[in-house]
Amino acid sequence: MTENGQSTTFKSKITAYVVGCWLLAAFGGMMFGYDIGISGGVTSMDDFLEKFFPKVYERKQHAVENNYCKYDNQLLQLFTSSLYLAALVATFFASKACSLLGRKYTILIASCFFIISAILSSVGNNIELLIVARILFGIGVGFGNESVPLFLTEVAPIQHRGAVNILFQLFVTIGILIANLVNYFTSTVHPNGWRWSLGLAGVPAVILFLGSLVITDTPSSLVERGKDEKGKKVLKKIRGVENVDEEFEQIREGCERAKLVKQPFKKLMERSSVPPMVIGISIQVFQQLTGINAIMFYAPVLFQTIGFKSDASLLSSVVTGSVNVLSTLVSIYAVDKVGRRKLLLQACIQMFICQMAVGLILAITLKNTGTISKELGIVVLLMVCLYVAAFAWSWGPLGWLIPSETFPLETRTAGFAFAVSTNMLMTFVVAQAFLSMLCKMRAFIFIFFSGWILVMGLFVILFVPETKGVALEDINERVWSVHPIWKKFVSERRNLPMV
Ligand code: BGC
Repeated sequence: MTENGQSTTFKSKITAYVVGCWLLAAFGGMMFGYDIGISGGVTSMDDFLEKFFPKVYERKQHAVENNYCKYDNQLLQLFTSSLYLAALVATFFASKACSLLGRKYTILIASCFFIISAILSSVGNNIELLIVARILFGIGVGFGNESVPLFLTEVAPIQHRGAVNILFQLFVTIGILIANLVNYFTSTVHPNGWRWSLGLAGVPAVILFLGSLVITDTPSSLVERGKDEKGKKVLKKIRGVENVDEEFEQIREGCERAKLVKQPFKKLMERSSVPPMVIGISIQVFQQLTGINAIMFYAPVLFQTIGFKSDASLLSSVVTGSVNVLSTLVSIYAVDKVGRRKLLLQACIQMFICQMAVGLILAITLKNTGTISKELGIVVLLMVCLYVAAFAWSWGPLGWLIPSETFPLETRTAGFAFAVSTNMLMTFVVAQAFLSMLCKMRAFIFIFFSGWILVMGLFVILFVPETKGVALEDINERVWSVHPIWKKFVSERRNLPMV
Protein backbone atom coordinates (compact mmCIF):
# COMPACT_ATOMS: atom_id res chain seq x y z
CA MET A 1 0.00 0.00 0.00
CA THR A 2 1.18 3.54 -0.67
CA GLU A 3 1.33 6.34 1.87
CA ASN A 4 -1.96 7.90 0.79
CA GLY A 5 -3.87 4.74 1.65
CA GLN A 6 -4.11 3.53 -1.94
CA SER A 7 -3.03 0.13 -3.17
CA THR A 8 0.25 -0.38 -4.97
CA THR A 9 -0.22 -0.07 -8.70
CA PHE A 10 1.52 -2.71 -10.76
CA LYS A 11 3.36 -2.09 -13.98
CA SER A 12 1.23 -2.32 -17.07
CA LYS A 13 0.95 -1.10 -20.64
CA ILE A 14 -2.25 -0.48 -22.49
CA THR A 15 -1.98 -2.84 -25.44
CA ALA A 16 -4.17 -3.00 -28.54
CA TYR A 17 -5.32 -6.46 -27.48
CA VAL A 18 -6.56 -5.36 -24.09
CA VAL A 19 -8.34 -2.31 -25.51
CA GLY A 20 -9.96 -4.64 -28.06
CA CYS A 21 -11.17 -6.89 -25.24
CA TRP A 22 -12.64 -3.93 -23.34
CA LEU A 23 -14.49 -2.60 -26.34
CA LEU A 24 -15.82 -5.94 -27.54
CA ALA A 25 -17.11 -6.89 -24.10
CA ALA A 26 -18.69 -3.47 -23.72
CA PHE A 27 -21.02 -4.36 -26.58
CA GLY A 28 -22.96 -6.21 -23.86
CA GLY A 29 -23.83 -2.76 -22.53
CA MET A 30 -24.96 -1.67 -25.96
CA MET A 31 -27.56 -4.46 -26.03
CA PHE A 32 -28.99 -3.28 -22.72
CA GLY A 33 -29.03 0.33 -23.88
CA TYR A 34 -30.53 -0.51 -27.25
CA ASP A 35 -33.52 -2.07 -25.60
CA ILE A 36 -33.98 0.82 -23.18
CA GLY A 37 -34.03 3.19 -26.12
CA ILE A 38 -36.07 1.12 -28.57
CA SER A 39 -39.10 -0.16 -26.66
CA GLY A 40 -40.77 3.16 -25.86
CA GLY A 41 -40.66 4.16 -29.52
CA VAL A 42 -41.89 0.79 -30.81
CA THR A 43 -44.84 0.69 -28.45
CA SER A 44 -45.99 4.08 -29.63
CA MET A 45 -45.90 3.13 -33.34
CA ASP A 46 -49.42 2.84 -34.75
CA ASP A 47 -48.58 -0.15 -36.99
CA PHE A 48 -47.30 -2.05 -33.99
CA LEU A 49 -50.27 -1.16 -31.81
CA GLU A 50 -52.82 -1.97 -34.48
CA LYS A 51 -51.30 -5.41 -35.02
CA PHE A 52 -50.65 -6.53 -31.47
CA PHE A 53 -52.67 -4.26 -29.21
CA PRO A 54 -55.77 -3.39 -31.27
CA LYS A 55 -57.70 -2.26 -28.19
CA VAL A 56 -54.95 0.13 -27.16
CA TYR A 57 -54.78 1.40 -30.72
CA GLU A 58 -58.53 1.96 -30.79
CA ARG A 59 -58.40 3.84 -27.51
CA LYS A 60 -55.46 5.94 -28.67
CA GLN A 61 -57.47 7.05 -31.69
CA HIS A 62 -60.36 8.24 -29.53
CA ALA A 63 -58.40 9.32 -26.51
CA VAL A 64 -59.60 12.38 -24.74
CA GLU A 65 -56.56 14.64 -24.82
CA ASN A 66 -55.04 15.15 -21.42
CA ASN A 67 -51.48 16.38 -21.14
CA TYR A 68 -50.52 14.13 -18.29
CA CYS A 69 -52.47 10.97 -19.19
CA LYS A 70 -51.83 10.39 -22.86
CA TYR A 71 -50.39 6.90 -22.90
CA ASP A 72 -51.31 5.40 -19.57
CA ASN A 73 -51.82 1.74 -20.35
CA GLN A 74 -50.78 -1.07 -18.04
CA LEU A 75 -50.71 -3.81 -20.67
CA LEU A 76 -48.45 -1.83 -22.92
CA GLN A 77 -46.20 -0.90 -20.04
CA LEU A 78 -46.08 -4.57 -19.12
CA PHE A 79 -44.85 -5.38 -22.61
CA THR A 80 -42.00 -2.93 -22.14
CA SER A 81 -41.12 -3.94 -18.64
CA SER A 82 -41.59 -7.75 -18.85
CA LEU A 83 -38.04 -8.03 -20.13
CA TYR A 84 -36.72 -6.81 -16.81
CA LEU A 85 -38.49 -9.55 -14.89
CA ALA A 86 -36.86 -12.18 -17.09
CA ALA A 87 -33.51 -10.45 -16.60
CA LEU A 88 -34.01 -10.34 -12.85
CA VAL A 89 -34.35 -14.13 -12.61
CA ALA A 90 -31.67 -14.82 -15.21
CA THR A 91 -29.09 -12.80 -13.26
CA PHE A 92 -28.82 -15.51 -10.61
CA PHE A 93 -28.19 -18.22 -13.20
CA ALA A 94 -25.69 -15.87 -14.79
CA SER A 95 -23.87 -15.56 -11.49
CA LYS A 96 -23.48 -19.36 -11.38
CA ALA A 97 -22.34 -19.39 -15.00
CA CYS A 98 -19.79 -16.67 -14.22
CA SER A 99 -18.28 -18.76 -11.44
CA LEU A 100 -18.40 -22.13 -13.18
CA LEU A 101 -17.70 -21.20 -16.81
CA GLY A 102 -15.98 -17.85 -16.42
CA ARG A 103 -16.87 -14.33 -17.54
CA LYS A 104 -15.99 -14.92 -21.21
CA TYR A 105 -18.42 -17.80 -21.75
CA THR A 106 -21.16 -16.05 -19.81
CA ILE A 107 -20.84 -13.15 -22.26
CA LEU A 108 -21.01 -15.67 -25.12
CA ILE A 109 -24.24 -17.14 -23.70
CA ALA A 110 -25.74 -13.65 -23.42
CA SER A 111 -24.96 -12.94 -27.07
CA CYS A 112 -26.73 -16.14 -28.19
CA PHE A 113 -29.91 -15.12 -26.38
CA PHE A 114 -29.73 -11.67 -27.98
CA ILE A 115 -29.31 -13.11 -31.48
CA ILE A 116 -32.21 -15.56 -31.17
CA SER A 117 -34.39 -12.83 -29.71
CA ALA A 118 -33.60 -10.38 -32.52
CA ILE A 119 -34.44 -12.98 -35.15
CA LEU A 120 -37.71 -13.95 -33.47
CA SER A 121 -38.90 -10.41 -32.96
CA SER A 122 -38.17 -9.36 -36.50
CA VAL A 123 -40.15 -12.27 -38.00
CA GLY A 124 -42.77 -12.72 -35.25
CA ASN A 125 -46.36 -12.45 -36.31
CA ASN A 126 -48.16 -12.99 -33.06
CA ILE A 127 -47.92 -11.47 -29.65
CA GLU A 128 -46.94 -14.80 -28.01
CA LEU A 129 -43.82 -15.07 -30.12
CA LEU A 130 -43.00 -11.45 -29.48
CA ILE A 131 -43.24 -11.97 -25.75
CA VAL A 132 -41.01 -15.06 -25.98
CA ALA A 133 -38.51 -12.89 -27.88
CA ARG A 134 -38.64 -10.26 -25.14
CA ILE A 135 -38.09 -12.85 -22.45
CA LEU A 136 -35.07 -14.22 -24.33
CA PHE A 137 -33.71 -10.70 -24.65
CA GLY A 138 -34.26 -10.27 -20.92
CA ILE A 139 -32.26 -13.43 -20.23
CA GLY A 140 -29.52 -12.00 -22.43
CA VAL A 141 -29.57 -8.78 -20.40
CA GLY A 142 -29.34 -10.78 -17.16
CA PHE A 143 -26.28 -12.68 -18.42
CA GLY A 144 -24.68 -9.64 -20.07
CA ASN A 145 -25.15 -7.19 -17.23
CA GLU A 146 -23.81 -9.68 -14.72
CA SER A 147 -20.71 -10.66 -16.66
CA VAL A 148 -19.60 -7.56 -18.58
CA PRO A 149 -19.07 -5.12 -15.66
CA LEU A 150 -17.28 -7.86 -13.71
CA PHE A 151 -15.15 -8.68 -16.71
CA LEU A 152 -14.15 -5.06 -17.22
CA THR A 153 -13.42 -4.49 -13.55
CA GLU A 154 -11.25 -7.59 -13.33
CA VAL A 155 -9.16 -7.02 -16.46
CA ALA A 156 -8.49 -3.34 -15.76
CA PRO A 157 -5.25 -2.13 -14.16
CA ILE A 158 -6.09 -0.59 -10.74
CA GLN A 159 -5.28 2.96 -11.75
CA HIS A 160 -7.73 2.83 -14.69
CA ARG A 161 -10.35 0.49 -13.21
CA GLY A 162 -13.10 3.10 -12.96
CA ALA A 163 -12.59 4.32 -16.50
CA VAL A 164 -12.50 0.83 -17.98
CA ASN A 165 -15.60 -0.29 -16.15
CA ILE A 166 -17.44 2.80 -17.35
CA LEU A 167 -17.03 1.60 -20.93
CA PHE A 168 -19.99 -0.62 -20.09
CA GLN A 169 -22.12 2.42 -19.30
CA LEU A 170 -20.71 4.32 -22.27
CA PHE A 171 -21.96 1.56 -24.54
CA VAL A 172 -25.31 1.56 -22.74
CA THR A 173 -25.69 5.22 -23.60
CA ILE A 174 -24.53 4.70 -27.20
CA GLY A 175 -27.09 1.89 -27.47
CA ILE A 176 -29.85 4.19 -26.24
CA LEU A 177 -28.84 6.91 -28.69
CA ILE A 178 -28.64 4.52 -31.66
CA ALA A 179 -32.05 3.15 -30.74
CA ASN A 180 -33.52 6.66 -30.61
CA LEU A 181 -32.13 7.37 -34.07
CA VAL A 182 -33.33 4.03 -35.46
CA ASN A 183 -36.84 4.73 -34.15
CA TYR A 184 -36.73 8.18 -35.65
CA PHE A 185 -36.30 6.66 -39.10
CA THR A 186 -38.31 3.43 -38.79
CA SER A 187 -41.37 5.23 -37.47
CA THR A 188 -41.87 6.47 -41.02
CA VAL A 189 -41.54 2.99 -42.55
CA HIS A 190 -44.98 1.35 -42.86
CA PRO A 191 -46.16 -1.19 -41.90
CA ASN A 192 -42.97 -2.94 -40.73
CA GLY A 193 -40.88 -0.17 -39.22
CA TRP A 194 -41.17 -1.74 -35.78
CA ARG A 195 -39.68 -5.00 -37.12
CA TRP A 196 -36.60 -3.09 -38.21
CA SER A 197 -36.37 -1.46 -34.82
CA LEU A 198 -36.47 -4.76 -32.97
CA GLY A 199 -34.51 -6.78 -35.51
CA LEU A 200 -31.57 -4.38 -35.78
CA ALA A 201 -30.61 -5.40 -32.25
CA GLY A 202 -29.13 -8.40 -34.06
CA VAL A 203 -26.21 -6.30 -35.38
CA PRO A 204 -24.54 -5.47 -32.04
CA ALA A 205 -25.57 -8.95 -30.84
CA VAL A 206 -23.52 -10.60 -33.58
CA ILE A 207 -20.56 -8.31 -32.81
CA LEU A 208 -20.83 -9.32 -29.16
CA PHE A 209 -20.96 -13.00 -30.17
CA LEU A 210 -17.85 -12.75 -32.34
CA GLY A 211 -16.18 -10.58 -29.72
CA SER A 212 -16.79 -13.11 -26.99
CA LEU A 213 -14.88 -15.68 -29.03
CA VAL A 214 -11.88 -13.37 -29.25
CA ILE A 215 -11.67 -11.92 -25.74
CA THR A 216 -9.77 -13.55 -22.94
CA ASP A 217 -11.20 -14.69 -19.65
CA THR A 218 -10.10 -12.68 -16.61
CA PRO A 219 -7.04 -13.84 -14.65
CA SER A 220 -8.99 -14.08 -11.39
CA SER A 221 -11.76 -16.10 -12.98
CA LEU A 222 -9.19 -18.50 -14.48
CA VAL A 223 -7.28 -18.91 -11.22
CA GLU A 224 -10.56 -19.30 -9.34
CA ARG A 225 -11.25 -22.30 -11.56
CA GLY A 226 -7.83 -23.81 -10.93
CA LYS A 227 -6.22 -22.64 -14.19
CA ASP A 228 -3.23 -20.89 -12.61
CA GLU A 229 -0.86 -21.29 -15.54
CA LYS A 230 -3.31 -19.85 -17.99
CA GLY A 231 -4.24 -17.10 -15.54
CA LYS A 232 -0.64 -15.95 -15.38
CA LYS A 233 -0.26 -16.10 -19.14
CA VAL A 234 -3.38 -14.00 -19.59
CA LEU A 235 -2.23 -11.50 -16.96
CA LYS A 236 1.04 -11.02 -18.87
CA LYS A 237 -0.88 -10.58 -22.10
CA ILE A 238 -3.35 -8.02 -20.79
CA ARG A 239 -0.76 -6.06 -18.83
CA GLY A 240 1.66 -6.10 -21.75
CA VAL A 241 4.65 -6.77 -19.44
CA GLU A 242 6.58 -9.92 -18.52
CA ASN A 243 6.95 -9.36 -14.82
CA VAL A 244 3.51 -9.79 -13.28
CA ASP A 245 4.61 -11.95 -10.32
CA GLU A 246 3.50 -9.58 -7.61
CA GLU A 247 0.07 -8.90 -9.02
CA PHE A 248 -0.40 -12.55 -9.86
CA GLU A 249 0.45 -13.51 -6.30
CA GLN A 250 -2.16 -11.08 -5.01
CA ILE A 251 -4.78 -12.58 -7.29
CA ARG A 252 -3.78 -16.12 -6.34
CA GLU A 253 -4.09 -15.38 -2.64
CA GLY A 254 -7.51 -13.85 -3.22
CA CYS A 255 -8.55 -16.99 -5.06
CA GLU A 256 -7.22 -19.30 -2.35
CA ARG A 257 -9.36 -17.52 0.12
CA ALA A 258 -12.34 -17.55 -2.22
CA LYS A 259 -12.02 -21.31 -2.65
CA LEU A 260 -12.65 -21.79 1.06
CA VAL A 261 -16.12 -20.37 0.60
CA LYS A 262 -18.25 -23.16 -0.80
CA GLN A 263 -21.60 -21.38 -0.65
CA PRO A 264 -21.22 -17.75 -1.64
CA PHE A 265 -24.93 -16.99 -1.33
CA LYS A 266 -24.86 -18.21 2.29
CA LYS A 267 -21.74 -16.18 2.91
CA LEU A 268 -23.59 -13.10 1.68
CA MET A 269 -26.05 -13.48 4.53
CA GLU A 270 -23.26 -13.20 7.11
CA ARG A 271 -22.54 -10.03 9.03
CA SER A 272 -19.27 -9.37 7.23
CA SER A 273 -21.13 -9.16 3.90
CA VAL A 274 -23.54 -6.50 5.13
CA PRO A 275 -21.48 -3.49 3.91
CA PRO A 276 -21.06 -4.50 0.25
CA MET A 277 -24.61 -5.88 0.12
CA VAL A 278 -26.13 -2.67 1.48
CA ILE A 279 -24.03 -0.53 -0.84
CA GLY A 280 -24.52 -2.71 -3.94
CA ILE A 281 -28.28 -2.93 -3.54
CA SER A 282 -28.93 0.64 -2.37
CA ILE A 283 -26.87 2.22 -5.07
CA GLN A 284 -28.95 0.45 -7.69
CA VAL A 285 -32.24 1.29 -5.98
CA PHE A 286 -31.21 4.93 -5.84
CA GLN A 287 -29.95 4.90 -9.41
CA GLN A 288 -33.47 4.16 -10.54
CA LEU A 289 -35.07 6.54 -8.04
CA THR A 290 -33.23 9.40 -9.72
CA GLY A 291 -36.07 9.00 -12.23
CA ILE A 292 -33.66 8.58 -15.16
CA ASN A 293 -35.79 6.01 -16.93
CA ALA A 294 -38.79 8.25 -16.82
CA ILE A 295 -36.69 10.27 -19.26
CA MET A 296 -35.02 7.41 -21.13
CA PHE A 297 -38.16 5.36 -21.81
CA TYR A 298 -40.61 8.14 -22.18
CA ALA A 299 -38.68 11.18 -23.43
CA PRO A 300 -40.83 11.54 -26.58
CA VAL A 301 -44.02 11.25 -24.54
CA LEU A 302 -42.67 13.72 -22.03
CA PHE A 303 -41.73 16.28 -24.64
CA GLN A 304 -45.13 15.89 -26.31
CA THR A 305 -46.63 16.52 -22.91
CA ILE A 306 -44.96 19.91 -22.78
CA GLY A 307 -46.24 20.73 -26.22
CA PHE A 308 -43.50 19.70 -28.66
CA LYS A 309 -44.79 18.23 -31.93
CA SER A 310 -44.22 14.51 -32.51
CA ASP A 311 -41.12 15.00 -34.65
CA ALA A 312 -39.62 17.64 -32.39
CA SER A 313 -40.16 15.33 -29.43
CA LEU A 314 -38.28 12.48 -31.03
CA LEU A 315 -35.50 14.85 -31.98
CA SER A 316 -35.35 16.22 -28.46
CA SER A 317 -34.84 12.71 -27.19
CA VAL A 318 -31.93 12.42 -29.62
CA VAL A 319 -30.56 15.58 -27.99
CA THR A 320 -30.86 14.13 -24.49
CA GLY A 321 -29.41 10.85 -25.79
CA SER A 322 -26.35 12.69 -27.12
CA VAL A 323 -25.89 14.56 -23.85
CA ASN A 324 -26.03 11.19 -22.12
CA VAL A 325 -23.19 9.77 -24.25
CA LEU A 326 -20.97 12.86 -24.05
CA SER A 327 -21.35 13.27 -20.31
CA THR A 328 -20.43 9.64 -19.75
CA LEU A 329 -17.07 10.52 -21.30
CA VAL A 330 -16.62 13.10 -18.54
CA SER A 331 -17.02 10.33 -16.04
CA ILE A 332 -14.44 8.11 -17.78
CA TYR A 333 -12.00 10.97 -17.43
CA ALA A 334 -12.89 11.96 -13.87
CA VAL A 335 -13.69 8.78 -11.98
CA ASP A 336 -10.14 7.68 -11.20
CA LYS A 337 -8.99 11.24 -10.56
CA VAL A 338 -11.84 12.88 -8.65
CA GLY A 339 -13.13 9.66 -7.09
CA ARG A 340 -16.56 8.10 -6.78
CA ARG A 341 -18.02 9.99 -3.82
CA LYS A 342 -17.45 13.48 -5.16
CA LEU A 343 -19.05 12.61 -8.48
CA LEU A 344 -22.11 11.14 -6.77
CA LEU A 345 -22.55 14.14 -4.49
CA GLN A 346 -22.00 16.81 -7.14
CA ALA A 347 -24.58 15.07 -9.32
CA CYS A 348 -27.13 14.95 -6.50
CA ILE A 349 -27.03 18.75 -6.25
CA GLN A 350 -27.33 19.27 -10.01
CA MET A 351 -30.09 16.68 -10.46
CA PHE A 352 -32.03 18.06 -7.50
CA ILE A 353 -32.03 21.59 -8.91
CA CYS A 354 -33.05 20.41 -12.39
CA GLN A 355 -35.87 18.12 -11.24
CA MET A 356 -37.26 20.82 -8.95
CA ALA A 357 -37.10 23.37 -11.76
CA VAL A 358 -38.94 21.08 -14.21
CA GLY A 359 -41.51 20.15 -11.55
CA LEU A 360 -42.19 23.76 -10.59
CA ILE A 361 -42.36 25.08 -14.16
CA LEU A 362 -44.83 22.38 -15.15
CA ALA A 363 -46.86 22.62 -11.94
CA ILE A 364 -47.32 26.33 -12.42
CA THR A 365 -47.78 26.55 -16.16
CA LEU A 366 -49.01 23.25 -17.60
CA LYS A 367 -52.63 22.38 -16.96
CA ASN A 368 -54.41 19.21 -18.12
CA THR A 369 -54.98 20.74 -21.52
CA GLY A 370 -53.05 23.35 -23.50
CA THR A 371 -49.27 23.64 -23.72
CA ILE A 372 -46.52 25.77 -22.24
CA SER A 373 -44.81 28.62 -24.08
CA LYS A 374 -41.99 27.86 -26.49
CA GLU A 375 -39.47 29.67 -24.27
CA LEU A 376 -40.43 27.69 -21.20
CA GLY A 377 -40.40 24.50 -23.29
CA ILE A 378 -36.77 25.23 -24.13
CA VAL A 379 -35.95 25.90 -20.48
CA VAL A 380 -37.47 22.51 -19.60
CA LEU A 381 -35.45 20.81 -22.32
CA LEU A 382 -32.31 22.51 -21.02
CA MET A 383 -33.04 21.40 -17.47
CA VAL A 384 -33.63 17.84 -18.66
CA CYS A 385 -30.28 17.93 -20.49
CA LEU A 386 -28.45 19.19 -17.39
CA TYR A 387 -30.15 16.52 -15.34
CA VAL A 388 -29.18 13.77 -17.80
CA ALA A 389 -25.60 15.10 -17.89
CA ALA A 390 -25.29 14.88 -14.11
CA PHE A 391 -26.72 11.36 -14.05
CA ALA A 392 -24.43 10.30 -16.87
CA TRP A 393 -21.22 11.22 -15.10
CA SER A 394 -22.26 9.78 -11.76
CA TRP A 395 -25.11 7.49 -10.78
CA GLY A 396 -25.35 5.93 -14.24
CA PRO A 397 -21.83 4.51 -14.47
CA LEU A 398 -21.17 4.27 -10.73
CA GLY A 399 -24.33 2.22 -10.24
CA TRP A 400 -22.45 -0.54 -12.08
CA LEU A 401 -18.90 0.24 -11.06
CA ILE A 402 -19.23 0.42 -7.28
CA PRO A 403 -21.02 -2.93 -6.78
CA SER A 404 -18.56 -4.61 -9.13
CA GLU A 405 -15.56 -3.52 -7.04
CA THR A 406 -16.79 -3.76 -3.45
CA PHE A 407 -17.36 -7.50 -3.04
CA PRO A 408 -14.37 -9.72 -2.25
CA LEU A 409 -13.75 -12.42 -4.86
CA GLU A 410 -15.45 -15.16 -2.80
CA THR A 411 -18.81 -13.40 -3.02
CA ARG A 412 -18.25 -11.21 -6.07
CA THR A 413 -20.42 -12.94 -8.67
CA ALA A 414 -23.17 -13.78 -6.18
CA GLY A 415 -23.15 -10.32 -4.61
CA PHE A 416 -23.06 -8.55 -7.93
CA ALA A 417 -26.07 -10.64 -9.01
CA PHE A 418 -28.05 -8.98 -6.22
CA ALA A 419 -27.02 -5.55 -7.47
CA VAL A 420 -27.93 -6.37 -11.09
CA SER A 421 -31.26 -7.92 -10.19
CA THR A 422 -32.08 -4.93 -8.01
CA ASN A 423 -31.48 -2.73 -11.03
CA MET A 424 -33.81 -4.92 -13.08
CA LEU A 425 -36.49 -4.90 -10.42
CA MET A 426 -36.37 -1.15 -9.96
CA THR A 427 -36.28 -0.54 -13.72
CA PHE A 428 -39.38 -2.73 -13.98
CA VAL A 429 -41.12 -0.79 -11.22
CA VAL A 430 -40.30 2.62 -12.71
CA ALA A 431 -41.19 1.55 -16.26
CA GLN A 432 -44.43 0.03 -15.05
CA ALA A 433 -45.44 2.85 -12.77
CA PHE A 434 -44.18 6.02 -14.42
CA LEU A 435 -46.96 6.74 -16.88
CA SER A 436 -49.64 6.03 -14.27
CA MET A 437 -47.79 8.19 -11.77
CA LEU A 438 -47.46 11.00 -14.30
CA CYS A 439 -51.19 10.74 -14.90
CA LYS A 440 -52.04 10.88 -11.18
CA MET A 441 -49.30 13.04 -9.69
CA ARG A 442 -48.86 15.26 -12.74
CA ALA A 443 -45.93 17.67 -12.45
CA PHE A 444 -45.39 16.63 -8.84
CA ILE A 445 -43.78 13.43 -10.03
CA PHE A 446 -40.61 15.45 -10.64
CA ILE A 447 -40.72 16.79 -7.12
CA PHE A 448 -41.21 13.22 -5.89
CA PHE A 449 -37.98 12.17 -7.64
CA SER A 450 -36.11 15.20 -6.34
CA GLY A 451 -37.07 14.17 -2.80
CA TRP A 452 -35.34 10.85 -3.40
CA ILE A 453 -32.28 12.66 -4.70
CA LEU A 454 -31.93 14.36 -1.31
CA VAL A 455 -32.16 10.99 0.44
CA MET A 456 -29.49 9.47 -1.77
CA GLY A 457 -27.16 12.41 -1.22
CA LEU A 458 -27.38 11.83 2.50
CA PHE A 459 -26.82 8.13 1.95
CA VAL A 460 -23.60 8.82 0.05
CA ILE A 461 -22.31 11.15 2.78
CA LEU A 462 -22.89 8.57 5.49
CA PHE A 463 -22.39 5.20 3.90
CA VAL A 464 -20.61 5.14 0.55
CA PRO A 465 -16.84 4.64 0.91
CA GLU A 466 -14.25 5.87 -1.59
CA THR A 467 -12.87 2.96 -3.61
CA LYS A 468 -10.70 4.93 -6.03
CA GLY A 469 -7.24 3.41 -6.37
CA VAL A 470 -7.83 0.45 -4.05
CA ALA A 471 -6.98 -3.01 -5.41
CA LEU A 472 -9.94 -5.40 -5.56
CA GLU A 473 -8.06 -7.76 -3.26
CA ASP A 474 -7.55 -4.96 -0.70
CA ILE A 475 -11.19 -3.83 -0.45
CA ASN A 476 -11.93 -5.47 2.90
CA GLU A 477 -8.86 -4.15 4.62
CA ARG A 478 -8.53 -0.73 3.02
CA VAL A 479 -12.18 0.18 2.66
CA TRP A 480 -14.61 -1.60 4.95
CA SER A 481 -12.32 -2.05 7.96
CA VAL A 482 -11.54 1.66 8.14
CA HIS A 483 -15.00 3.08 7.44
CA PRO A 484 -16.55 4.66 10.60
CA ILE A 485 -19.82 2.73 10.25
CA TRP A 486 -18.93 -0.37 8.27
CA LYS A 487 -15.85 -1.30 10.33
CA LYS A 488 -18.18 -2.67 13.01
CA PHE A 489 -19.36 -5.30 10.58
CA VAL A 490 -15.98 -6.49 9.41
CA SER A 491 -13.92 -5.90 12.53
CA GLU A 492 -13.47 -9.60 13.18
CA ARG A 493 -11.57 -9.84 9.90
CA ARG A 494 -9.02 -7.19 10.68
CA ASN A 495 -6.30 -9.53 11.81
CA LEU A 496 -6.72 -11.97 8.98
CA PRO A 497 -4.44 -11.74 6.00
CA MET A 498 -6.52 -9.66 3.59
CA VAL A 499 -6.54 -10.65 -0.05
C1 BGC B 1 -29.25 2.51 -16.02
C2 BGC B 1 -30.40 2.48 -16.94
C3 BGC B 1 -30.52 3.83 -17.62
C4 BGC B 1 -29.23 4.18 -18.31
C5 BGC B 1 -29.28 5.56 -18.89
C6 BGC B 1 -28.01 2.84 -16.79
O1 BGC B 1 -26.92 2.88 -15.93
O2 BGC B 1 -29.11 1.26 -15.36
O3 BGC B 1 -31.56 2.16 -16.22
O4 BGC B 1 -31.54 3.81 -18.57
O5 BGC B 1 -28.17 4.11 -17.41
O6 BGC B 1 -28.10 5.91 -19.53
